[in-house]
Amino acid sequence: MTDTIDAPAAAIPTPADAGGERRLRALMKRGTDFLGSDWAILGGAMSWVSERNLVSAISNAGGFGVIACGAMTPDLLDREIAATRALTDRPFGVNLITMHPALSDLIDVCARHGVGHVVLAGGLPPAGSLDRIKASGAKVICFAPALALAKKLVRSGVDALVIEGMEAGGHIGPVSTSVLAQEMLPDVADLLPVFVAGGIGRGEAIAGYLEMGAAGVQLGTRFVCATESIAHPAFKKAFIRASARDAVASVQVDDRLPVIPVRALKNAGTEAFTAKQREVAGLIDSKAVEMAEAQLQIEHYWAGALRRAVIDGDVEHGSLMAGQSVGMVKREEPVTAIMSELIGEAAAALSRRGTGATVG
Ligand SMILES: Cc1cc2nc3c(=O)[nH]c(=O)nc-3n(C[C@H](O)[C@H](O)[C@H](O)COP(=O)(O)O)c2cc1C
Repeated sequence: MTDTIDAPAAAIPTPADAGGERRLRALMKRGTDFLGSDWAILGGAMSWVSERNLVSAISNAGGFGVIACGAMTPDLLDREIAATRALTDRPFGVNLITMHPALSDLIDVCARHGVGHVVLAGGLPPAGSLDRIKASGAKVICFAPALALAKKLVRSGVDALVIEGMEAGGHIGPVSTSVLAQEMLPDVADLLPVFVAGGIGRGEAIAGYLEMGAAGVQLGTRFVCATESIAHPAFKKAFIRASARDAVASVQVDDRLPVIPVRALKNAGTEAFTAKQREVAGLIDSKAVEMAEAQLQIEHYWAGALRRAVIDGDVEHGSLMAGQSVGMVKREEPVTAIMSELIGEAAAALSRRGTGATVG
């Protein structure tokens, strides 16, 4: 471990009075009823990072852990769910990427294990997938990148939405969390539980989004340096050293090849991605690959690059996917410490705002 990782523990936030915590629980009630957790805080699935150890630690701490299936085969997912179950008896979810070629087998694996919540990421769910997940008794959570799509997803029967702004780590859309929350919460928060993600590093922001109508929040970056996270010490050290401005979005270099931007800490791998895009664009030009295959190659590139950094610790050439909240990651600490800091800050913020407002 490095000296940076061993930095002194966080100052304990000023304890909120009971009123602040009561109000926080009331604002989160819809989210906690939906998730079955103590707090409506999802640990956003992060490929290679969100595996049995971090997921069970988040659920055991009262949050809601989510396994990142990423590019796992159905067999691997099967083992990961079983191993997570062995570490926690609290609820947790599984995140599946819609473009995974074995999506329907992965849905079957979740159903066999009685997974209660499936999060579908990476685009609109393919026909039939929602019904198959729901037929297993699981709840479906989808990402909604814009209001019109959110309404479409509600009509198609999803049970909850995540709205994720461009401050987030990993694949991102073009709009910030604060704008998405203002545009979408007034229209959809009454229809189904909505969880806000992207750029959340402290409890005050959690309190703010709850007051705007969110049922809860989803955080990724803030959990990467948890003691329980298996991310390589070099990966964690890069997070602890970084500030918000180091987490930059990738740039599309070729008009013919639309790539979903990825937010990550800047390193030599950032330039390597530019070269990779040129290589794949060349393959399209020479008709060696179709567009769908080209985009899949880009996604495989990211999965490999992320593994290289998270697992092997190659923080120079691998991908250091991180959100702008990385500047608020100060040390390695147990998930329970991260959770109680967030809860303490949120409750204190609500208690400072007084007791004028009532919640149902
Ligand atoms: C290292 C890393 C890997 C991620 N991998 C995935 C993934 O595989 N699937 C997914 O839906 N989201 C992924 N995300 C996004 C998170 O689930 C979460 O929504 C996001 O981190 C929230 O924003 P924040 O980073 O500002 O907290 C990833 C994020 C990070 C930082």
